[in-house]
Amino acid sequence: MFFSLIGIGCIIYGLIYLCTLFFDADLELKFYEKFGKPISHLRGKVVFVTGASSGIGEHIAKSLAKNGVKLVLAARRQDELERVKRECLEISNGSLSSNDILVLVMDMVDIQFHKKHFDHAVRHFGGVDILVNNAGRSQRAMWENISMEVDKQMFDLNVFSVIHLSRVAMEHFNQRGEGHIAVTSSLAGVMGVPFSGTYTGSKYAIHGYFNCLRTEKIGKRLFVTLLCPGPTFTNFLQNCFTEKEGENYSETVQPTDKRMTGQRCGELCAIALANKQEEAWIAIQPLITFLYVAVYMPNIFKWGLRILGPETLFKLRDSRDTTVLREDKMQ
Ligand SMILES: NC(=O)c1ccc[n+]([C@@H]2O[C@H](COP(=O)([O-])OP(=O)(O)OC[C@H]3O[C@@H](n4cnc5c(N)ncnc54)[C@H](OP(=O)(O)O)[C@@H]3O)[C@@H](O)[C@H]2O)c1
Repeated sequence: MFFSLIGIGCIIYGLIYLCTLFFDADLELKFYEKFGKPISHLRGKVVFVTGASSGIGEHIAKSLAKNGVKLVLAARRQDELERVKRECLEISNGSLSSNDILVLVMDMVDIQFHKKHFDHAVRHFGGVDILVNNAGRSQRAMWENISMEVDKQMFDLNVFSVIHLSRVAMEHFNQRGEGHIAVTSSLAGVMGVPFSGTYTGSKYAIHGYFNCLRTEKIGKRLFVTLLCPGPTFTNFLQNCFTEKEGENYSETVQPTDKRMTGQRCGELCAIALANKQEEAWIAIQPLITFLYVAVYMPNIFKWGLRILGPETLFKLRDSRDTTVLREDKMQ
């Protein structure tokens, strides 16, 4: 009897995990999508989104605007931020007015201005509820060829600027006794991905910093959400770092690529925020399943990777083979 119960338990456990084969997010996020708090739970809150002028940040902002959430849209390109603001106002269907969306032109790596920008947003709205650190750049490069200057520049943007702005926000959240910080990490922050050495390192660093913050604030009203998208239709490949300082990867995402739409990614990120999820995995198949295997069955994953090779992982991620790395960009 005892062993039968254990057997049945194992089968149910296995069946639940089999569901991940059909999902575009982790099980917890899929549960929240169906049964959790809707995005409209955040209506009237103020969310500060960095990297809001394009891509995932733009779509997070739009998903929030659709549900009446007030926004601070931050990035360097003012014309793009103004476009996103106009589109957010349209989508909000009258629930937001121009005063409810503040455009902030800021370069994340100029950390000496972070406090000025954050204080501006606090003065404008009377407070900020959630900071979404989304600005960042990716990378395609051969690990051994990466220049230290690229390592430093990428950490300045993807890690140190994020930590600094979050510390500025923490002052505000500590005063209020409540706050929520999110960071757009990546699947590359959960498992090592090939040909993105510095990028993978930068996203792992984010997990380290914020998992530490979460444990320091356990039991307090300070929440941390790590958003981990996989391949998404944005223009990020254009501005990717390579291994050489000052060089951009300049690849274009093709409509035939296998990626999640920016809109779906933004929506799932907004659901994760509404439910204060700690870590959300968001990607098309088979990447979600790969991630479950990599995290929960690392030996099987290693064995599989040996058979598939890093090239297959690269292809799953970028919908092209590694010749594009080796012949065109990396010589
Ligand atoms: N697309 C994917 O497949 C994917 C997958 C996993 C994770 N991610 C993560 O998602 C985040 C957003 O990337 P994305 O794909 O949406 O790319 P994207 O369309 O290129 O967006 C990047 C955003 O970051 C901003 N940004 C870049 N450098 C900045 C700086 N120095 N100061 C201020 N803002 C800066 C850009 O705005 P300005 O140029 O106007 O400043 C832009 O709004 C990144 O953290 C990336 O690592 C993307």
